[in-house]
Amino acid sequence: MTLERLAALKPYLSFFHPVTMWILLALAIYTLYLGVQVRRTRLAEGEPKKELIKGRFAIRHHQIGSIFLALIVMGAIGGITVTYINSGKIVIGPHLFAGLGIVGLVATSAALVPFMQKHTWVRSVHVSLNLVVLGLFGWQAITGVQIVQKIVSQMTANSAG
Ligand code: HEM
Ligand code: HEM
Repeated sequence: MTLERLAALKPYLSFFHPVTMWILLALAIYTLYLGVQVRRTRLAEGEPKKELIKGRFAIRHHQIGSIFLALIVMGAIGGITVTYINSGKIVIGPHLFAGLGIVGLVATSAALVPFMQKHTWVRSVHVSLNLVVLGLFGWQAITGVQIVQKIVSQMTANSAG
């Protein structure tokens, strides 16, 4: 593939990370929903508990959570790579640090899993870390869209000039 062809791919590359991340935000909210169902199942008793167990929420939450973990790490690496390909540097700013924070927190919360069944407080740490992740993710969505707007206005300025 020639360099010009690679250059032609650049605009598409810029949008790949934002689109993937919006899908991942939806996945994060779904993971939260499943986690809440896990908690409801654990705390329920009698007939309602039997009904909730049928939803297999614990296993589904663990599976979707694992997929989320893998994709968020790849997505963050993708964001850095695309930024570097497009501008020859990495933008050191809030979006970068919040992104790295998310990666660290989700990895830590997943690493707590083997200890969660034994200690209730570890479970609370898992939930708290992930709530911070969701908050940071909301912030990433806002700053991310601002970066997209900047890229689009640069593109239109370049094609006009
Ligand atoms: C958006 C991210 C996440 C949120 C909001 C979240 C939230 C929760 C909540 C609310 C619970 C229930 C706690 C309780 O029973 O009181 C839970 C349990 C659990 N989470 Fe997560 N979680 C997230 C990501 C993950 C990830 C990435 C993994 C692992 C890869 C994971 C694995 C588990 C496991 C194994 C349990 C315990 C299930 C059981 O009791 O058998 N979670 N999570
Ligand atoms: C949900 C919406 C998000 C949008 C719309 C978005 C958008 C963007 C855009 C447009 C870029 C610049 C790409 C380029 O220069 O071509 C970028 C870079 C980056 N993104 Fe995101 N992003 C989002 C979420 C995330 C999340 C959740 C993470 C981390 C887990 C993340 C991590 C990064 C990193 C590390 C960079 C490179 C450093 C930087 O440019 O600040 N992004 N993002």
